This record gives sequence, structure tokens and C-alpha cells, in this order.
Amino acid sequence: MITEMERLKGELKALNAEYGKIKDVPAEKRGEFGRELNVRKQEILGKMAELESEVLNAEVESLDVTAPMGVNEGISELLTADNGSKHPLMVEMDRIIEIYRSMGFEAVESRQLDDEFHMFDSLNFEKGHPARDGYDTFRTEEGLIPPAHTSTMQYRVLKANRHKLEKGEAIATVVPGRVFRNEDVDATHEHTFYQCEGVYVSETCTLGDMLGILREFFEKYYGQKLDIRTQPGYFPFTEPSLEFLIEKPKTLGGKKGDYLEMLGCGMIHPNVLKIAGIDPEKYHGFAWGGGVDRLVMLKYGLDDVRNFEAGRLSFLREF
Ligand code: DAH
Repeated sequence: MITEMERLKGELKALNAEYGKIKDVPAEKRGEFGRELNVRKQEILGKMAELESEVLNAEVESLDVTAPMGVNEGISELLTADNGSKHPLMVEMDRIIEIYRSMGFEAVESRQLDDEFHMFDSLNFEKGHPARDGYDTFRTEEGLIPPAHTSTMQYRVLKANRHKLEKGEAIATVVPGRVFRNEDVDATHEHTFYQCEGVYVSETCTLGDMLGILREFFEKYYGQKLDIRTQPGYFPFTEPSLEFLIEKPKTLGGKKGDYLEMLGCGMIHPNVLKIAGIDPEKYHGFAWGGGVDRLVMLKYGLDDVRNFEAGRLSFLREF
């Protein structure tokens, strides 16, 4: 469907082409011809300006992406590069990736539809194990799974990079991505959120290396020295499994002894390496994964995760 603005632009283009015909007009009529074109041009430009200000002044709270054709007409004029801006989560995601890049990691984005093998089997979840239910996964009618965590990419990362190990290089990849869980939504739970995964494999790496990398990451992200802690966790794809905590940054209201759980991590389970064709006798790895929304909420003191997905311009404009 052509919008009014597009129609006017078409008219203007046709009119501009008519100026070229002026040389075919007898000399004595050229003045009148030109004046007439100018009048029509001013008319069209006037209508365009009017339309533009109508659109800009309209109280448009959000674009309804489910609306039938035509309902959002005019709003499309607001969606040009000049008027739009990056979503705050994407801005932060870029910062996160940049920090990991500076530490030698490459980044690959996860996908938004995956399968049983990548979500569970390749990650050492036994068939019928209750841990499979712990992820509140959505499923499509075809049995596909919108990933409930970015760990679904571990198998792909390991397989695609295992040749590096033979050359004595390490696998060092982070995987930012969107994840989905069938959860009751409230101020701290969303059905759609973001995670960032890290995967590192080499001949000699240790859990200590992982803690060093994570501490460095959080200190860079929050721009201050931070105390860290771990506590035991359980994930079928790591052994041992840990939860990683940081001291709540002082600049963000943290007091001595306030710790926040930021992510899950551990040494990659030998079965996960084996399934991806890597010899667990020879190589070791560690991995971690955690929510990006929480990280960002802490940084800006936000208290409702639902704002990120609500498409509310008043919230987005605060950034
Ligand atoms: N995927 C886990 C979750 O969403 C977090 C996690 C734990 C990722 C341990 C890892 C890991 O890579 O090693 O709850």
C-alpha cells in the first residue's frame, strides 16, 4: 500500500522531470510554463511538510506490529534512521562484546530457533532427567525449541573451532543471544531476554583462569574493582558447576557483604567435549552464561525487566 508521503514523493519526481521539457516550449511561453511548475512544486512541498509535522506531532506511543495493514501508516515516517535509535540492551551488548574482544574472544550470535539436540542432548542432559524441565522451554508444533539459554551454541562453537586445538591455539568465543522461557512474567522475569555465553578450551586452562576472566569482565563493565565469590551450582554440562557472584558495586548502592549472583559457570563436562569431537583426556575447557538484562538493570538502577520488551518509547528515550 502506498502511503500519502510516497504518493507525494512520486508526484514531485514526475514534476521535476517536467522541468526538462522547458527547452521544447516556445521561448515566449517559457516564463508561464516555469511559473506554473513552480506553483505546483510549492503545493506538493507544502503538503509534504504538513504531513511530516502531523506525523511528528502525533502522540505515537508505539508501533503496533500486529496491526492490520494501514493502521501504522504515517508511523513508518518515524522509523527512518534519523529518528530511530539503538535499543539500550543492544548498546550494552556491544559494550559487553567489546570487553570480551579486548581479552581475545571472538563473538558469534546465537540463533532464535533450535532443537532438542542442541538444547539438551549435546549438553549432557540425560533423557528423562528432571533438569530438562528446569528450563521452561517453549516448543513449536514441529517440536523445535526457541533456545532457553545460549548454551545451545556450545556444540556448534566447539565443533567449528576444534581444528584450532590441534594447532596449539585455544577456542575462545562468546555468544550473545536472545533466549526464551515459558515463565510467569513479573518485574524480574521475562519470557524473552538476553544472555551472553563464554566458551574457552585449551590444553592447559584451569578454573582459576575462568575466574580471572570473569572478574576482569565485571570490573571493566562496572568500571571499578570488585570482590568476587563462587558457590556450588548444578548444570549437567559442567563439572564442577559454580554460581558466580560479584560484590554489589559501591557506586550502585552496594554495602559491604552485598553479593549478587551474576551467572552460572564451570569446567565443561568431558561428555560435552566428547560429543563435539574433542578429546577430554587432552583438552579442558570452561564455560559460563548469564543474563544481560540483569547486568544492565544493575548498571542503571532499573527495577522492571519488562520495560525492555514493552516497546514503550518513554522508557527507551531515557537512554
Ligand atoms: N545456561 C545456564 C543457564 O541459563 C547458565 C550456564 C551455566 C552456562 C554453566 C554455562 C555454564 O555455559 O557452563 O542457566
